[in-house]
Amino acid sequence: MIPAALAVSTAVWRELVILFVAIQLTFLLSRTTCNVFFHPLRKYPGPWYFAASRLPLTIAVLRGKAVYLRKALYAKYGPVVRVAPGELSYSDERVWSGICGSTPHSKRGMARHDSLFDLVGGEMMRKAFAPAVTTKALVPQQDLIVSHIDALVHKLVTMTSQPVDMVDMLRFAAYNLFSEMFLGESMGLLDDTKYVDWVHSFPGFARATTIVAELQHYTITRILLRFVIQKFGKKHRELFIGVTQEHFDRRLAKKNTGGSDILAFAMDPKRQLTVGELREFAPFIMMAGGETTPTLETGLIYLLMTHIPALEKLKAEIRGRFASDEDITMEALARLPYLNACIDEAFRIHPPVATGLGRVVPHGGAEVAGRWVPGGTIVTVVHHSTFHSGINFHKPDAFIPERWLPENDHEFGNDIKSSLHPFSIGPQACFGQDLARQVIRLNIGKLLLHFEMKLDKASEGWMENQQCFVGWIQPPLMAELSVTQKG
Ligand code: HEM
Repeated sequence: MIPAALAVSTAVWRELVILFVAIQLTFLLSRTTCNVFFHPLRKYPGPWYFAASRLPLTIAVLRGKAVYLRKALYAKYGPVVRVAPGELSYSDERVWSGICGSTPHSKRGMARHDSLFDLVGGEMMRKAFAPAVTTKALVPQQDLIVSHIDALVHKLVTMTSQPVDMVDMLRFAAYNLFSEMFLGESMGLLDDTKYVDWVHSFPGFARATTIVAELQHYTITRILLRFVIQKFGKKHRELFIGVTQEHFDRRLAKKNTGGSDILAFAMDPKRQLTVGELREFAPFIMMAGGETTPTLETGLIYLLMTHIPALEKLKAEIRGRFASDEDITMEALARLPYLNACIDEAFRIHPPVATGLGRVVPHGGAEVAGRWVPGGTIVTVVHHSTFHSGINFHKPDAFIPERWLPENDHEFGNDIKSSLHPFSIGPQACFGQDLARQVIRLNIGKLLLHFEMKLDKASEGWMENQQCFVGWIQPPLMAELSVTQKG
């Protein structure tokens, strides 16, 4: 039997719980009502439940499906949608300069949302590395880049007896190259399995980072995450980066490197970075390129294997121009119109940074696409939706490289080509873009010079419904390769 005193206190507890829940519900209801009816963004289009709470967007982000959700919302509501109480999402070409460009309100473009963490070191790192990866600065690196792509070709020649996973192979080659460029030593992934698990763990890292970033938007999870990240995150981050920092340390221990690699350039005292800072940044630069560049390449290879006329036309352009490997140079590839059209079209259909990175409107507000947006609002140009918008492109979901060639202006002249910025624009845009384009051209050029390619049945529909955590989680892309018969 329950003693009387305890019975009273149970009743009091019950009342306290009911009171607490009632206060929470009243607070939630009034906040939701305010968000829908009185918030400064209330006149922006979008479903009321997205205006009421961030939860619907969060659920889509956690499932890796936010990119498809945003596309569907634009199709229904037009080029600007209120996707959360304090967030606007755009697919409007005019927004690029307003958000990412330098304006009187924000000289460096609007700041990235702090949920993204400043993973890669911002302005300082840009000063140290950006000048080393421009088209001009890359000329002395050409032999190094080519040596890694040739190694990939040689490896693939030995793998023609059964379908090959192009996602793995292109990632291995990219990490080998970028690791040698930025950390002074290849990861040896084409010959050795030592770091394969590390490469395979990257999608998990991307997924976790995106989920943690999304959960930063809620007070409770933000506080909890601060504790969890401090307790466990730092250790995991160090383990993950540690693999690459070993390379950095070995490179540093080497006395004579000829002084011509990118690290030697970044270490120049003129650039004012300490060894500790370089040790922290260099792995992230390596990863920034190591994931994105092969994402585009595999995307393009899939699109070509599923659009045979485009594949044949591109092969004809490459094989007509280059008789052998020795003829293939970065300069000559940059002048191939159909190759570059195919690359731009793949960037449009399958952009490696698919969601874009959220920016925050500065204190005092700013005009975005002709409308005033209050300070503190998160604004994003969503790459995938902008590039797939029927307002920006005719036949937006179809892979048609021809749209980028001036002779087809009669059909595609009204495409808003300036809406395609897969590397973003402005003072915070990707500074690895020249490097990425050179590597992509060399890879595609050499692969199509040396191989016939056919999509394996196991990879039919490969591009549909991929999960996306800022970048795509690409499943294996199985291709049947055979060595091109000369003559
Ligand atoms: C197809 C390949 C690539 C794509 C699509 C891509 C795309 C992007 C995008 C969209 C951003 C964000 C820009 C912004 O917020 O405005 C970015 C940032 C960045 N990218 Fe790339 N990137 C690629 C390759 C590379 C490569 C090869 C490197 C190596 C040098 C690199 C290094 C970086 C760095 C360090 C940042 C951060 C810059 C900063 O915070 O100031 N990326 N990239």
